[in-house]
Amino acid sequence: MDKKILFTRQEIERRVAELGERISRDFEGKELLLVGVLKGSFIFCSDLIRALTVPAAIDFVRLASYGAQTVSSGAVTITKDIETSIEGKHVIVVDDIVDSGLSLALLKDILVKRRPKSLSLCVFIDKRTRRQVELEVDYVGFTIDDGFVVGYGLDMNERFRELPEICVVDEGKESEPS
Ligand code: IMP
Ligand code: MG
Repeated sequence: MDKKILFTRQEIERRVAELGERISRDFEGKELLLVGVLKGSFIFCSDLIRALTVPAAIDFVRLASYGAQTVSSGAVTITKDIETSIEGKHVIVVDDIVDSGLSLALLKDILVKRRPKSLSLCVFIDKRTRRQVELEVDYVGFTIDDGFVVGYGLDMNERFRELPEICVVDEGKESEPS
């Protein structure tokens, strides 16, 4: 399978630092609760939380969507909920990538009902043209066109999460693992 680097580790590092600065400015004097969406966001979360200059706690949620491996089917459920009360807190949901927007839209609906003081969305990669529901993302790392990306926590069938770069895969070219 062919992969091409889309964002280098330096570009990623720079962008995460910028996002951290922006979020820290927006929430100056406040405390944050980051809610990372497992598993894809674990690396982004760990970099982002260290790029913040405001105090931030972290919790994680895990979603499952059923259907084809690389395309969201629309049936989304929470398989692991957060363990923290978010009532009255400034919450930022952190995800690796938003595609159709179905999973984040659903998660947002669920979390809003728990009455946080504010709820923002932060995703590292935004495939904006693929959106199927209206969803405003407050903090975006990079916007890309269609294409399947891996690395920096993002996987393809659980592979390639460990790559330090974000790569686009050529799904047409299957070959033996090297
Ligand atoms: P959505 O509900 O369609 O927005 O799906 C978002 C989820 O699909 C992400 O959190 C990823 O787990 C997965 N996903 C969508 N596009 C990609 C991709 O290009 N690479 C890896 N995972 C992806
Ligand atoms: Mg995900």
